[in-house]
Amino acid sequence: MREEEKIGDILKLKKEKDAIILGHFYQIPQIQDISDFVGDSLLLAQKAKEAKNKVILFCGVHFMGETAKILNPDKKVIIPDMEAGCSLADSCPEDKFIEFKKQNPDHLVISYINCSAKIKALSDIICTSGNALKIVESLPKDQKIIFAPDKNLGGYINRLTGRNMLLWDGSCEVHQLLTSEEVLKQKIKNPDAILIAHPECNDAVLQIADFVGSTSEMISFVNKDNKHNKFLVATETGIVHKLQKDNPEKTFIVVTNDSSCSCNDCRYMKLNTIDKVLSSLREEKYEILLDEALIEKAKKPIERMLSLSKELKILK
Ligand code: 13P
Ligand code: SF4
Repeated sequence: MREEEKIGDILKLKKEKDAIILGHFYQIPQIQDISDFVGDSLLLAQKAKEAKNKVILFCGVHFMGETAKILNPDKKVIIPDMEAGCSLADSCPEDKFIEFKKQNPDHLVISYINCSAKIKALSDIICTSGNALKIVESLPKDQKIIFAPDKNLGGYINRLTGRNMLLWDGSCEVHQLLTSEEVLKQKIKNPDAILIAHPECNDAVLQIADFVGSTSEMISFVNKDNKHNKFLVATETGIVHKLQKDNPEKTFIVVTNDSSCSCNDCRYMKLNTIDKVLSSLREEKYEILLDEALIEKAKKPIERMLSLSKELKILK
């Protein structure tokens, strides 16, 4: 079967099954192009909550499918590959986190959305890279906070706000791998380029970046920049599809630690393929199923994030 035929079948099945396809910016271009909404974690969580369709096909990773199910539990939420996990979410196992919380009982828990439903259920507020700063800033300055699981995003927010949040020692394998030495080499080679970085990168990289933001913030930053034509991109490769589509005249160089590797491809995000999207819709698999009590517990901190994001005018 040719690619166009597969895509034709996906679009037909989408209508027949009353499905909505949500795709993250780290998905392969073909998946982004067939998605009803492509976005960062914040926008996709909001779209999942608002979805009226019977089926939500989430093209991203497992924790994103879980978030969709928590926010819209009456819908059938499916993902193309059950193995599409996340190294950052895996870096924060439930039992160890319970212990960590016990040791710091007077702390409020803010967890980055890249964590399992069980960690969400143990949290007070969820945040994404697009709203973390404003959410933290909305809390009293003397509020003791545990920030999990990403030490890089948490450290970055600490630096910007002058706070001293207690950080869980987790990170994303794709962003953590990138060294400032390599990024500097690329900056020297491309002195006219602007460096944009995701806050999951380590602090040394973030310190030398010209702009730091979530995937959609990076895209709007580039879209608004009419002075520069070259950008060094410190995040997962999938983002270049949208950057290039919106800015065909600009050049994007993904910074990797080794030009011969595909280390900036998230091995989990890239498990999703057009073939898997097709069989996922055809067979309505793989379904995200969560215990009702867990849904109830995990929903509160995510809802808190969504309503705070509206109050703080991050979301409409
Ligand atoms: P955002 O798209 O929210 O910036 O998240 C990036 C990410 O790591 C998703 O796994
Ligand atoms: Fe997880 Fe990193 Fe992949 Fe995002 S890019 S899904 S944080 S491993």
